[in-house]
Amino acid sequence: MTTKPKEKPSRFDPEPVPRRDFLGLAALGSMALALLVSAFGMLRLPKAAVSASPSKKFEVDIPDALPAGEAFVPPGRNVAVFRDTEGVYAISTVCTHLGCIVKALPNGFECPCHGSGFAADGAVTKGPAPKPLPWLKVTARGNAVVIDEETTVASGTKV
Ligand code: FES
Repeated sequence: MTTKPKEKPSRFDPEPVPRRDFLGLAALGSMALALLVSAFGMLRLPKAAVSASPSKKFEVDIPDALPAGEAFVPPGRNVAVFRDTEGVYAISTVCTHLGCIVKALPNGFECPCHGSGFAADGAVTKGPAPKPLPWLKVTARGNAVVIDEETTVASGTKV
């Protein structure tokens, strides 16, 4: 019986990697891959969808043909502007119940959400709204007026 002589390993043969080392390297590689993928995912996150809100103080050109006591709602604003013989005034159209936008009617306002009713001066005529619609600060500027949505004034204040 002859046995083959053991071949002497070449110095270019790779050394066998011990099992424990292999598992450690595999775990390290997995963690590195997960980190890379999550970093790529964070880069792809959508940008914040916050847009700059328009200024709460804005100028309004009231139409010349606006009949006395009829509401003019500037586009994109939650304000009803009125003009009568005593002056110009603005009433917020944000319902004092839960913040829906009320609809201006010929003789007041109506909230489409829960049915609150408001008189032409903003006073509550029908609940559940707890408070009247606030009057907003109006400042005359030439033929236009500047309305400040953040500043309320006493009901009946006209300029
Ligand atoms: S939000 Fe207007 S009645 Fe509820």
